[in-house]
Amino acid sequence: MLKNDLGVIGMGVMGKNLAHNIANHGYKVSVFNRSISSTTKILVQNPISGIFPIFSLKEFICSLKKPRCVILMIKAGAPVDDLISLLLPYLEDDDLIIDGGNSFFKDTISRCNLLKEKKILFLGTGISGGEEGALNGPAIMPGGTKKAYKRISDVFKNISAKYNNEACVQYIGPNGAGHYVKMVHNGIEYSDMELIAESYFLLKILLGMNNKEMSDTFCIWNTGELSSYLIEITSQILRKKNSQGKYELDFILDEASHKGTGMWTAQSALELHIPLSVITESVFVRYLSSLRSQRFIAATILKGPKCKIIDSKNRKDFIEDIRKALFLGKIISYAQGFNQMKEASQKYLWNLNFSNIAKIFRAGCIIRANFLNDIMSSFSENNELINLLITPLFQDVINEYQNSLRRIVTVAMKNGIAVPVFSAALSYYDSYRAINSSANLIQAQRDYFGSHTYKRVDKIGSFHLDWAH
Ligand code: 6PG
Repeated sequence: MLKNDLGVIGMGVMGKNLAHNIANHGYKVSVFNRSISSTTKILVQNPISGIFPIFSLKEFICSLKKPRCVILMIKAGAPVDDLISLLLPYLEDDDLIIDGGNSFFKDTISRCNLLKEKKILFLGTGISGGEEGALNGPAIMPGGTKKAYKRISDVFKNISAKYNNEACVQYIGPNGAGHYVKMVHNGIEYSDMELIAESYFLLKILLGMNNKEMSDTFCIWNTGELSSYLIEITSQILRKKNSQGKYELDFILDEASHKGTGMWTAQSALELHIPLSVITESVFVRYLSSLRSQRFIAATILKGPKCKIIDSKNRKDFIEDIRKALFLGKIISYAQGFNQMKEASQKYLWNLNFSNIAKIFRAGCIIRANFLNDIMSSFSENNELINLLITPLFQDVINEYQNSLRRIVTVAMKNGIAVPVFSAALSYYDSYRAINSSANLIQAQRDYFGSHTYKRVDKIGSFHLDWAH
C-alpha cells in the first residue's frame, strides 16, 4: 500500500486549512480527528486530492511513510499530552511529532524531554496567520532539535508565507523556543490591537469622526510607516455594513475575550524581570473591559471631566499626532517584546536570532508590518542590541514622535478618556530615559521597615540606617 507523506491530527479550522495547504503543495496527507468531525465526514463525501481521512489512530499511523511525521493541530494543554500518550504505542524511533498549537512553552520543554527519552523527535511549532494563513501561508516558528527541523524544513518552507520570495519560517531554537516566540508574537498582537483600538476611540470621541471617515483614515495610514495587516483589517472592519445597512462594529459588545497567550507573555516577563508594561497593560485592558456591569454602576457614581471635541483648526494636527503616537507606541511595544525574548534566550539557552525572528514576522502572521524590516536590519547589525529605542534607525523618529504621544495622552486624560496602553508606552519612554528616578526613596523605605540595605551614590558597599531614631 502506498503510504502518505505526513499526517495532521485535529480537523478544526486551523488543522483542516493546514492540511489543505500541505496537500496543495503536492504532499499526500492523512488526516484524523478523535471524534468523527463534520470536516472528516465532508472530506469523505467530497474527496480532495492529496487528503486522506482516516478513522482510527492505528490506521492513521500505518498510513504514513517511515520515519513518520504527525502534526498535531489540537487545543493546547492536557489534550496534547493525552494525544501523545495515545500515539506513543504506535510510533517508532525517530518518528516526528509536531505540535502546531499555541502550547505553553514550559509544557513544550517537558514534552521535548519526555519524547527524547522515548527516542521520538518533537517540534513545538508556533503557527501564526489565523485560518487564512494556515491555508495560504502562515509564519512558522519551529522549536526543537535541528535534526527534527531538518526532517520537516522543506514542507514548512513550501507551505509558509513568502516575503519577497523568502519563506517565513526559520529554525528558532531548542525545545520551547518556537512556542515562546509565538507567545511573545501574540503578546505584541495584543498591544498592537489595543493601540489601534485606543486610536479609534480618540478619533471617534475627540474628533467625532464617523465610521467611514475613520476607515478612510486607517486606509491612508496603511499606505505609510504604519502599513500592517492589523491596520488594514481595522479599516475594513470600520466600513463593514450588516444586512440592515448598518455598521456592524457599532453593535459589538465592548468586552474583549482572550485565550491566555497574552497573559502567559506578561507572566513570563514578570518572572524574567522584564518591564513589559505595554503588552501587560493590553492584557489588563481586556480584563477591565469584561467588568461591564461594574462599569455601568461606576459610571453613575464616579465623576470625570466633560469631553470636548477638538476644534476644527486643530483637527488635522491631532489626527497626525494620533498616527505618530500609534507608531511610537508600536516601536516601544516591540522593543519591550524583543527585550523579553533576549532575556528568555539567555535563561533557557536558546541562542535566538532576533533578525531572523523579525524576518519571519514580515508576512503570514497577525503582526506582519512593514516596519519589521527596520527591526530586522537593526538586529542583523547586532544581535545583542540593548534596546530598539536607542538604535540609530529609530532615534530620529522616536525623538520627533514623543511629542505627539505626549500630546494625545494629555488631551485624552484632560477629557477623561482612558488610553492605558498609550500612557504605559509614554511612562516607559520617560522612565527609560530618566537619569534620576524616585527609586532612592523606595530603597530608603525598604531599609526603614525591613533593614534591606541600600547602595549610595558616593560610596561602594551596602548601607543600613536606623531611620526611626
Ligand atoms: C495567530 C493568532 C492566533 C489566535 C490568537 C487569539 O497568530 O494566528 O495569534 O494564535 O488568533 O491566539 O488570541 P486571543 O484569543 O487571546 O485574543
